[in-house]
Amino acid sequence: MNLQQLKKIAAFYTRFTLSFTQVGYRARQLTWPAYKADFSGQNWVVTGASAGLGKHIALAAAKAGARVTAVARRSAKLDGLVREAAALGITGIETSECDFSLQADAARWVRERIASGQRVDVLVNNVGVLNDDHLLTAEGREASYVINLLSHYLITEELIRAGTLGGPKPLVINMTSGGGYNVPLSTGMLNTTNPAKFNGTAAYAFHKRAQMVLNQYWRDTYGSRGIGFYVMHPGWADTDGVKRSMPRFRKILQLILRDAESGADTALWLAATRPSQPEQELVWFDRKVRTAHVYPRTQATKDTPQSLVAFLERDLTSLSGAAGS
Ligand SMILES: NC(=O)c1ccc[n+]([C@@H]2O[C@H](COP(=O)([O-])OP(=O)(O)OC[C@H]3O[C@@H](n4cnc5c(N)ncnc54)[C@H](OP(=O)(O)O)[C@@H]3O)[C@@H](O)[C@H]2O)c1
Repeated sequence: MNLQQLKKIAAFYTRFTLSFTQVGYRARQLTWPAYKADFSGQNWVVTGASAGLGKHIALAAAKAGARVTAVARRSAKLDGLVREAAALGITGIETSECDFSLQADAARWVRERIASGQRVDVLVNNVGVLNDDHLLTAEGREASYVINLLSHYLITEELIRAGTLGGPKPLVINMTSGGGYNVPLSTGMLNTTNPAKFNGTAAYAFHKRAQMVLNQYWRDTYGSRGIGFYVMHPGWADTDGVKRSMPRFRKILQLILRDAESGADTALWLAATRPSQPEQELVWFDRKVRTAHVYPRTQATKDTPQSLVAFLERDLTSLSGAAGS
């Protein structure tokens, strides 16, 4: 790491540590008006819902009356969610397994959901990982790229095209990260198949930036059909993901990291209150809409929302025959 990179990291942590931790959440919370969440009659799909933020979103949405499909990879953890819901007296959660690192499995999952005829009112694209190790999937892609971005694109587009994302006020909430603030949109940095060129933190940041751009693309493309889209980031919450991927970061900040409930708060508030926002690339954090470009340098890119979507479409098509999607 050179001095320039060290300076950037120091500036990032100096600027955001108080804001992104429980300190910022608690301070802002003092000024928030109370609101009531009533999601009865709504069908929710929450991805990555067996742990961390996704689990809290699923539990809170079900508690407020939603029928929630909690999707994750491992059935044992999903069973744990069901047990936790039962212990809390929360009903209305059903579980569904999908490995979002594989196009074939994401396509299978969405096909089955569409075929079930069960409408989706709220889709929370929450699943996401920061992998330190380079993992190449059986389909030949870098795993975190598919989990963090490609699968979100696939299931969202398919649910919209089939009319399954419907109901009176259909909504998609995309879970990004403050890490995305550090980089511009770059399609060339999304799928790093060469292990020698892989840096997990950088890859994660590029995926999270692309999510912000994709969210605005969807707002522009589908907003006139009445579908709502928000992209939010949760701050820094003490979850299994942080424990696994950022042990040193966690050790230093453990005492002030948010709990997962606080990280999940804005997703539930967005779904309950449906605030309006200007039509430009913006990000929600702690119930407020904020710039997507904290650093002006991240605005400079040769990519566009259209080139991002073309990249994702091309990539899906390249495997769709073989993968059966
Ligand atoms: N925690 C934070 O401070 C923080 C900060 C910024 C952004 N975020 C974002 O918030 C989201 C949730 O983060 P988290 O910290 O709550 O994560 P987490 O604790 O690691 O939980 C991840 C969830 O995703 C599921 N999952 C992982 N890989 C999967 C795969 N291939 N297919 C299907 N499900 C998979 C996991 O289930 P299985 O174990 O069954 O795979 C689990 O339910 C992510 O998008 C993350 O980038 C979090």
